[in-house]
Amino acid sequence: MTPPAAHVAHPDQRQALAFRHVSKQFPRGDGGALEVLRDVSFDVPAGSVVSILGPSGSGKSTLLNMAAGLLAPDQGRVLVLGHETTGTVDWSRLGYMFQDDRLLPWRTAIDNVGLALETGSIGRREKRERSQAQLSLVGLGDFASAYPHQLSGGMRSRVALARSLVTEPDILLMDEPFSRLDAQTRTTMHTELLRIHRERGMSIVFVTHDVEEAVILADHIVMFSPRPGRVHTELAVELPHPRLGTPDALSLVAELRAAIAGMSADWVI
Ligand SMILES: Nc1ncnc2c1ncn2[C@@H]1O[C@H](COP(=O)(O)OP(=O)(O)O)[C@@H](O)[C@H]1O
Ligand SMILES: [Mg+2]
Repeated sequence: MTPPAAHVAHPDQRQALAFRHVSKQFPRGDGGALEVLRDVSFDVPAGSVVSILGPSGSGKSTLLNMAAGLLAPDQGRVLVLGHETTGTVDWSRLGYMFQDDRLLPWRTAIDNVGLALETGSIGRREKRERSQAQLSLVGLGDFASAYPHQLSGGMRSRVALARSLVTEPDILLMDEPFSRLDAQTRTTMHTELLRIHRERGMSIVFVTHDVEEAVILADHIVMFSPRPGRVHTELAVELPHPRLGTPDALSLVAELRAAIAGMSADWVI
């Protein structure tokens, strides 16, 4: 028999992530506290690409670490697929791609990708097959046995992307993942990421300090103020892809840059 609806927990899975009045301070060496995030609230609708755009030090990485359950807020709540991060979250549904590629130099590309599967109960053979499939997805099918030092920056970034995708996460957290790539390679990675997003339909939270990158990728932009990070502006970007160099994208970039200039002279990257 189905229990009455009132007795069933219905986590709101329409929101991949929800931040509700999140505040965070870190202790400082002098005994004081550094206020990093103040009363931050916004949602990441399931299947969307949300860009958190903010200057260096505005708490963007701190916020992602909270979404990944690595840090707890001082105040407020963080919900992952409708569940409190303090409760039971299925963390295997999240992938995390960091600013540096964090590849292990002594492991081949395929074994770096397979790292993400090592905590599960997946057999050797399936692990290899899944890792190989992810490398193919990011265009590195022929480089499975290459070591990181044999790969270009763009290729290493692809391996890191494959590693964050191999668990087939519903939510992909990306912390300035392409900021160290040259402009041309970064553009290629944007195209790849949007293609994979179209194929997989996962939710993406993409942290960046780069206005143009946010405009090119995001369905929604959440713009932070300088520290303490607060939501300064939230906007929907309803432009068709590809956006790079299009008049609409260029004018949105100009508009956001003007908003930043008006906000503060302290926007540093
Ligand atoms: N674990 C920590 N302990 C103390 N200070 C921290 C810690 N993590 C981050 N900070 C500080 O908090 C501020 C925000 O950091 P971060 O979230 O990395 O910002 P962003 O990613 O926007 O550049 C920075 O000034 C940073 O030095
Ligand atoms: Mg950061």
